[in-house]
Amino acid sequence: MNILITGGAGFIGSHVVRRFVTTYPNYHIYNLDALTYAGNLENLKDIEKASNYKFLKGDIVDEAFIFEIFKEYRFDGVIHLAAESHVDRSIKDPLAFVKTNVIGTVNLLNAAKEFWKDDIEEKRFYHVSTDEVYGSLGQIGLFTETTSYDPNSPYSASKASSDHFVRAYGETYNLPYVITNCSNNYGPNHFPEKLIPLFINNIIEGKSLPVYGDGKYTRDWLFVEDHATAIDLVFHKGNNHETYNIGGFNEWQNIELVQLLCQIMDGKLGKPAGFSEKLIEYVKDRPGHDLRYAIDANKINKELGWKPSVTFEQGLERTVDWFLQNKEWLSRVTSGEYQEYYNKMYS
Ligand code: NAD
Ligand code: TYD
Repeated sequence: MNILITGGAGFIGSHVVRRFVTTYPNYHIYNLDALTYAGNLENLKDIEKASNYKFLKGDIVDEAFIFEIFKEYRFDGVIHLAAESHVDRSIKDPLAFVKTNVIGTVNLLNAAKEFWKDDIEEKRFYHVSTDEVYGSLGQIGLFTETTSYDPNSPYSASKASSDHFVRAYGETYNLPYVITNCSNNYGPNHFPEKLIPLFINNIIEGKSLPVYGDGKYTRDWLFVEDHATAIDLVFHKGNNHETYNIGGFNEWQNIELVQLLCQIMDGKLGKPAGFSEKLIEYVKDRPGHDLRYAIDANKINKELGWKPSVTFEQGLERTVDWFLQNKEWLSRVTSGEYQEYYNKMYS
């Protein structure tokens, strides 16, 4: 099998690429990534020389390039993760999200439709999406696979749009697809603009921890390796034309999560209890901030037998340990130095 994984130099993508390269030595894994600010090939240093792995630098918005690689490498399946992924950036520059998340996805769908037309039923297009397409929950209830889409940020609107295109290609052109909508991920290699890695970095540097609004917003957190396991399972065993929600049944109010993180960091850094919590600063809220996300992951559990392998406390501790053991990674990311890696290794 030749499998195209898009966005494989990013946070979740790098875990998915590693899992496929190491678990399936007989597959050829092609990692296509534009290496935007969020793409970091250092995330894949350990497997970059594997004989079943190839990196392709390119932009999914570039239609000609996408068609070229489909022609050259004859992919049997696509696992599509490449995206602009940060809500705060989408508020500043929505068009960048339309380009990559919507147009980029449609380019991939068009190439799949064109190059797979003779044996389309043997192929699989896997679109990785987010629970944010469902909008915001109130204090109760969970997102199921039939919850109506109701996106509130330019990021979630662009992901919702791409989900609709994937489904439409399934209905209109018979493209065999699966979509998963996952909750918030955390873990090693997480880019330090998102809540957990940003706050770990700020605690290390003694900087303030900017909690938006009253900190009572709630997210459902999943360890990134558990997401990669779920993607592997759905890619191989999921039913065509289906959506699966992925989540950890693990809801945390932001402020409670930040307090737990501060406690873990104090313990690891040998600081007195309450030391890092003093860095918490309540700041102006994010516009259109969704109150609560929570996933009902019963379908993937019942149909495919997936469940998370670690508790939040275990996953968070592993994450903190990883960041403390990889301070060089963190400083190269925060200084921008990581962006030189491609030129050094691949030019
Ligand atoms: P990320 O921002 O860490 O990585 C995105 C990757 O895509 C980067 O390597 C980047 O270089 C690449 N990319 C961006 N634009 C591109 C383009 N035009 N062409 C080619 N490559 C491009 O994102 P992530 O957090 O790893 O998320 C991956 C996917 O999972 C996204 O589709 C996201 O919507 C989805 N998702 C993320 C989360 C989460 O909590 N992070 C949760 C659910 C779903
Ligand atoms: P984030 O990691 O950006 O993920 P998402 O917006 O996709 O859920 O944010 C998680 C939660 O943390 C969200 O409610 C916004 C909040 N947040 C802060 O309070 N301060 C911050 O500096 C960041 C980045 C996020």
